[in-house]
Amino acid sequence: MPPRAKKPASSETDARDEIARLQVTIRHHDALYFGKDAPEISDADYDKLRRRLEILEAEFPHLKSAGSASAKVGTAPSEGFGKIRHAVPMLSLGNAFEDSDVGEFTDRVRRFLSIAADQPLAFTAEPKIDGLSISLRYEDGNFVQAATRGDGTEGENVTANVATIKEIPKVLKAAAGHPLPDVIEVRGEIYLGHDDFRRLNGAQEAAGDKIFANPRNAAAGSLRQLDASITAARPLRFFAYTWGETTNLPAQTQSGVIAAFKSWGLPTNPLMRKCADAEALLAYYREIGEKRSGLGYDIDGVVYKVDDLDLQARLGFVSRAPRWAIAHKFPAEQATTTLLGIDIQVGRTGALTPVAKLQPVTVGGVVVSNATLHNEDEIARKDVRVGDTVIVQRAGDVIPQVVSVVLEKRPPGTHAFVSLTVCPACGSAAVRDADEEAGTADVVRRCTGGLTCPAQAKERLKHFVSRNAFDIEGLGDKQIEAFYDDGRIKQPADIFTLAARDAASADKLAEQKGFGQKSVDKLFVSIDARRTIALDRFLFGLGIRHVGEGTARDIAKAFGTFDAFRQAVDQATKDRPGREWQRLTTLPGLGPKSAETIITHLANRTTHASDLFAASQHKPITQMLTGIKGVRAGAVEALERAFANSDALVAAARKAAASPPRECYVQLASLNGIGEVAADALIDFFAEPHNAKAVTDLLAHITVAPYQRVAATTSAVTGKTVVFTGTLTRTSRNEAKAQAERLGAKVAGSVSKKTDFVVAGEDAGSKLDKARELGVAVLTEDEWLKLIGG
Ligand code: IVH
Repeated sequence: MPPRAKKPASSETDARDEIARLQVTIRHHDALYFGKDAPEISDADYDKLRRRLEILEAEFPHLKSAGSASAKVGTAPSEGFGKIRHAVPMLSLGNAFEDSDVGEFTDRVRRFLSIAADQPLAFTAEPKIDGLSISLRYEDGNFVQAATRGDGTEGENVTANVATIKEIPKVLKAAAGHPLPDVIEVRGEIYLGHDDFRRLNGAQEAAGDKIFANPRNAAAGSLRQLDASITAARPLRFFAYTWGETTNLPAQTQSGVIAAFKSWGLPTNPLMRKCADAEALLAYYREIGEKRSGLGYDIDGVVYKVDDLDLQARLGFVSRAPRWAIAHKFPAEQATTTLLGIDIQVGRTGALTPVAKLQPVTVGGVVVSNATLHNEDEIARKDVRVGDTVIVQRAGDVIPQVVSVVLEKRPPGTHAFVSLTVCPACGSAAVRDADEEAGTADVVRRCTGGLTCPAQAKERLKHFVSRNAFDIEGLGDKQIEAFYDDGRIKQPADIFTLAARDAASADKLAEQKGFGQKSVDKLFVSIDARRTIALDRFLFGLGIRHVGEGTARDIAKAFGTFDAFRQAVDQATKDRPGREWQRLTTLPGLGPKSAETIITHLANRTTHASDLFAASQHKPITQMLTGIKGVRAGAVEALERAFANSDALVAAARKAAASPPRECYVQLASLNGIGEVAADALIDFFAEPHNAKAVTDLLAHITVAPYQRVAATTSAVTGKTVVFTGTLTRTSRNEAKAQAERLGAKVAGSVSKKTDFVVAGEDAGSKLDKARELGVAVLTEDEWLKLIGG
């Protein structure tokens, strides 16, 4: 934050008021001018308002807000669809590919709910429609609004288009036994049948219009028409399969609600069936697989759901997917084509990925011309060579991959692939880190150029603006490449100064190839729309290694604000364990718990019983470790691989014991969803001055909004830190944790001064001792359930 200008309080107060008034007035005129094309004042008068604002902001820089109208080009043009925030997020599903994944799903559900194998547990099974998901809002039975899924939190308002779809009732009819709720969001899939798809493409071709690659693209293209009369002319169809916000559910089971939907006149899939166990689910999967080609619409698998809605509520969600459902996908589709070349792509963390350039081929309805080859070991294993005929496969939304080579078709004169040893983008050495203890090399080759590599920088920027991060419309891969190359955008902060620099520049963006005033205005508007960003999106956008969307959300949940998070990382940095501790606790085959036991044992032994120890110093490692509680044979072998003799091991243990992880590091690493790998990555990221500066620069232009819990419930444990230990008998440990989080508590893995409650089940051990030692409140499982009102 810039230092505060020393001004008399009265003038500052006046300035604050005037700035606030100007912000409102300018926004009002922006909306009239850009949004409605109907200005109320002359351009000269409008300019006066802006200049006045700029003058005041220049005089009192600390009063300038990140989203000030002075930095804005205008409000969103009225073209395009409005945005709708989903009251209940629209989530996705976890995937099962193998039969064994299905058994694991049903077992997982049983374990979570503590339902024994001999107790009944019903599921539903239904086709997974390959269309686009939609949320339809009905109030008093009347259709009032439709929104696409968007990013799951916010979708597009497509009400006018959906209103043209004949299969979607505009009024729900009340049915006996199934009263209509005041409000219900019916969710399902919009799709196009095979016959209609063929007819549509035929007509498109005859008219010289765009041919759609598959029914899903055609359905999406038909729905997202600004002119709803085009949507009306396309025979879109709909299946209802779930729901969002509702005032009253018509049944207690998944199958019951779908039956109510049907009775209200909504189309539901007639192939839905109740199944008693994994075996029945698999039989259903095979049956639908056989019927698939004759269904008349595209499906890409089947979906299994827990039938009982109370159980669904208890199971809840992990990240973006429910624990109570899973999509069982059909096997990937394959095709044969020629490998034209192998390109090397540089990722944002420097990983080099070989990409197959293919003779374009249609795989399951989509034209594929690039496919991943994963890494050089995979190329060698499959012996993939340029010129080969290869088999490519595509499964759902997964990136297409090269599966194998048709060796009989190999032309003469091919050469085995030779790995690059320099980065193709920056020329820095490209290396595979050696994993010394395991005696192997990392499968990934990485560019060592780090922050100087332009390819890495571009990839980081692409990630920063991507859909689940800052989601800046109009800044796609192409624009990032171009803006990076011409020097306009080198780091995230530059995105937010782009408009101001462009205004002052003679070399206007609007005059560049591929741009025009309209698209530039639009771009600046969408950049402005992101000057306030949710904490989890912000963290994810930074592209820190091991911090994916889920971890970013967990961090946001745990800390609430960026400042609190940043402070925790700084404190953890000071409390980070030494190198030797890190090495021992991450030794392959050892495990952090055994490592800790061994460190404590060996380090104490040298200090407290040094005489005795001297005699045993040259004992083999095995002998020295026998008798230590909890050290298994595998651990001994791992240490034997890593250390030449017992002297070396004892020396390492002593060094490790001298710098163990301390309070704040443990605190950070034990937060739900973080762990040591992510904690280390966070510390490493902010310890790099260039990164820290890039973040500070960025924060000068944006506001990071504190994390907002979805449907937060306040309870006696909101904001409290809880540790569960011992065996719980009334619920599973995982359910207890999930429930605590739903109520706004933080669940930690270890006890510290900051812990508010330790919930001790049967046979609780060291954590309970620690809680007593630190005077932390200890609750029995029953006391805990009483506290949370369960
Ligand atoms: S249930 C909480 N049922 O698949 C999410 N989804 O890959 C509940 N989908 O976003 C979704 N057919 O768009 C469900 N019978 C079905 C489905 C289905 C298709 C889509 C849906 C979802 C995606 C996840």
